[in-house]
Amino acid sequence: MHQTLLLLFLLLSPALAWLPMEDWESGNVTTSGGGLECVCSVFLPDSSFPADRVQHMQQATTDLRLELEIHMNKLVHYGGKLDIFLGELLDLTVRVAMLESSPDNYIKLDFELLRIELREFEALVSQLKGSLNSSSPLFDSVYTEIRNMTLIVNQLETYDKSNLEVIRIEFAKLQKKLEECQKEQEIIKPDIGNCNHTGIMSVSKPTVIQLNAHLNPGYLYGGWGKDSKPVRGHESMYWYGAYSSPSVYEFYLYSNYNKLLQRSSFTHHGLPQGYEGTGNNYIVHGNAVYYQAANPVRMTKLNLTSSVYSHRQITKASQRFTYTYSPNQYLDFSADEEGLWVMYASEEAMGKIVVAKLDEKSFGIEDEWTTGAFKPLVGNAFMVCGVMYATRPGDLKTEEIYYSYNTLTGEERYMSIPLQKFQDTFVNLHYNPTDQRLYMYSSGYYVSYNLRFNEE
Ligand SMILES: *[C@@H]1O[C@H](CO)[C@@H](O)[C@H](O)[C@H]1NC(C)=O
Ligand SMILES: *[C@@H]1O[C@H](CO)[C@@H](O)[C@H](O)[C@H]1NC(C)=O
Ligand SMILES: *[C@@H]1O[C@H](CO)[C@@H](O)[C@H](O)[C@H]1NC(C)=O
Ligand SMILES: *[C@@H]1O[C@H](CO)[C@@H](O)[C@H](O)[C@H]1NC(C)=O
Ligand SMILES: *[C@@H]1O[C@H](CO)[C@@H](O)[C@H](O)[C@H]1NC(C)=O
Repeated sequence: MHQTLLLLFLLLSPALAWLPMEDWESGNVTTSGGGLECVCSVFLPDSSFPADRVQHMQQATTDLRLELEIHMNKLVHYGGKLDIFLGELLDLTVRVAMLESSPDNYIKLDFELLRIELREFEALVSQLKGSLNSSSPLFDSVYTEIRNMTLIVNQLETYDKSNLEVIRIEFAKLQKKLEECQKEQEIIKPDIGNCNHTGIMSVSKPTVIQLNAHLNPGYLYGGWGKDSKPVRGHESMYWYGAYSSPSVYEFYLYSNYNKLLQRSSFTHHGLPQGYEGTGNNYIVHGNAVYYQAANPVRMTKLNLTSSVYSHRQITKASQRFTYTYSPNQYLDFSADEEGLWVMYASEEAMGKIVVAKLDEKSFGIEDEWTTGAFKPLVGNAFMVCGVMYATRPGDLKTEEIYYSYNTLTGEERYMSIPLQKFQDTFVNLHYNPTDQRLYMYSSGYYVSYNLRFNEE
């Protein structure tokens, strides 16, 4: 085993930059007077470390950047794109580190994910090219590079440590740059926590983070996400839990995104006998896990600060109705800008979803609304700004947000907002108000989406 996996990250702008990925994806490039730059990023593995080629590519990069500046001049910035790329970069950095100490299974896994990413970058570049109607040879060469990389990755060859070290340093630099960018973005992103919009307009393409922390593709049932109301000192905390059946036995906590990617949890809660869960619509909110205990079926709160468990039964919650993709999903927890919620179907409502507002301290139901969404036809549901959104299966590749119920006004709406699936099925889908993203656990993978809202 002596050969190279080379991940060459080409950042086409050394300056602070915004990444309007959705526009590229929809084949639309919007311009404005915002003074923002466009960035195109590419990952290049090769069979040897090509210093000359890197130099060549750096030149090409600069040229391409200038060209992009001319073509696109200023790009409208849509929130959240930057952290997607930062996430991908962090992910790759961690994976390069892992490759250095790599057992073979890591390598297989990494190559698999690299292939997925390369396909996505390929599509991105091709769409960017199309949307600019550019006949630039630079685009062709970047495109060819990506194709070449795909071929190389496909050969599944070995790696050279010294090259990886060089790449890691490059990654670290870029990462720092992107982190600075991200900070700036957060400052100019006033809409976090703000419900000054009239609902979801569109959902970005999925970002596939990686396979679950058990590296087990058979762990189809689970969930992952961030604390939606973090306590002090745990602002960056992520959580994860999964198993090969809908049963829930444990939760892992990670102090930040990087640790999540490294599969390095700071703590782990195994559920004691009698407290095991089922169904996979759990979340973490205010440093407490809210999940559905199995026997008897009831709401359970595991306070992560005190490790105290509390329970509440919802007698009206029926055990005849679950979501389409998974059994035992009777109680679906959700958190949004308004607080904590649970959704269930009742016999009284004839299988339609009832939305209940929960009081965190008392763990009691404050108020309830019966929606028009018949649960067995729903893929999953989540709350945003006091509005319940329900999805339903489209085709194998698409889920559709088709219905909403506004608990503030009682208004129901039917809509058709596509949500591109990564795999056919998923078991945990929820919104997080701290970053306005959707988190999904899909066939063992961590997946997330950005939301765009209709302006007032
Ligand atoms: C592209 O932009 C135009 C003008 O803003 C808009 O009408 C059109 O719907 C957009 N197309 C897509 C695919 O987003
Ligand atoms: C691309 O540009 C060429 C000329 O610059 C033009 O003839 C062609 O119609 C354009 N294609 C599209 C899809 O806009
Ligand atoms: C891609 O690979 C082919 C064959 O190895 C080579 O001829 C070509 O120069 C490569 N393209 C780039 C842009 O490096
Ligand atoms: C909500 O949006 C409207 C229209 O953009 C704006 O006039 C108003 O100031 C906004 N309110 C808040 C609280 O941001
Ligand atoms: C969890 O326990 C801590 C310490 O007892 C308490 O301060 C906090 O309010 C509890 N959180 C919830 C959500 O019950």
